[in-house]
Amino acid sequence: MSSVVINDEFMYQFRKKLDENHFYGVDRKTFFLGVGGEEVIVETRSKFMSSFNKARMGTPNNILLRVGNSLLIDNRLSGFLDSEILNSDNVIQLWNFVTFFNHHISNLSYTALTLYALDTLDLSGKTILDLGCGEGVLSLFVLKKGAKKVHSVDGDSKYEVLIKNNLRLNNLEPNSLAFIPALFHEENKIFEAIGNHQSNLALVNVGPHFGESDLVAFSLLNAIPGINQVLAGGYYSNSKFGPTRAVIRLASLGFKKNLKYFDFNNQHLNFLVER
Ligand SMILES: C[S@@+](CC[C@H](N)C(=O)[O-])C[C@H]1O[C@@H](n2cnc3c(N)ncnc32)[C@H](O)[C@@H]1O
Repeated sequence: MSSVVINDEFMYQFRKKLDENHFYGVDRKTFFLGVGGEEVIVETRSKFMSSFNKARMGTPNNILLRVGNSLLIDNRLSGFLDSEILNSDNVIQLWNFVTFFNHHISNLSYTALTLYALDTLDLSGKTILDLGCGEGVLSLFVLKKGAKKVHSVDGDSKYEVLIKNNLRLNNLEPNSLAFIPALFHEENKIFEAIGNHQSNLALVNVGPHFGESDLVAFSLLNAIPGINQVLAGGYYSNSKFGPTRAVIRLASLGFKKNLKYFDFNNQHLNFLVER
């Protein structure tokens, strides 16, 4: 698969097409990554969805997300891009963008930050464990970036259908992703589904908003062979939702090497750690 260049000119032309087709532009948000905010990484756009759903007329929704050179779009926008762009490895279509659409911008931000962090890694041929996968955005992204297999766990089984649709939309091999509907404390169910498959990298973009869930997810890691890297997200700097207890817990499991933080507007915080 080849990549396309998603630069400012590309975005300008794309937006123009959307506007011409009555996608009333409402809001363009640009975020900055890193100390000093020197690098623009994410662009979201909201719009009135009147042409899709009359009932929600007037509600602004996110329809596209650009993280660096990657573009995630609601699949209903696919008609505005040619097939070469749609099939490239840095464009991801999301079926209805459903729950993502309704996400508060801060949720969208920490998923975006995880995508950014993932983009710094070589994922080709890797096997990945996505704990708390939700609508599967991270799982799809890693497959598009060359990962061989993903085990995607979420306690909410409604995501299974959505993820299947997203695999099909993006021409990804259905068997490249195994969705495991389980809560993190249902260890046996998870271990049985994974079998003796190795995983290289665990993604835990759950954050502290689900109580101890992130810590429960970490407790699975020692029983899954091969994991030597964890990318954890959803934390905030300077608040009770900070990453300290997660960093300490992972250190106790042997993940102490090369700790690296990724920050977003000096507020959201994700980290990568190895063992
Ligand atoms: C904020 S969403 C993040 C979704 C996705 N990882 C992303 O980055 O876009 C967190 C997800 O974790 C799941 N989750 C939270 N606690 C869980 C638990 N104890 N067991 C299984 N899944 C859980 C939720 O159902 C939700 O889909």
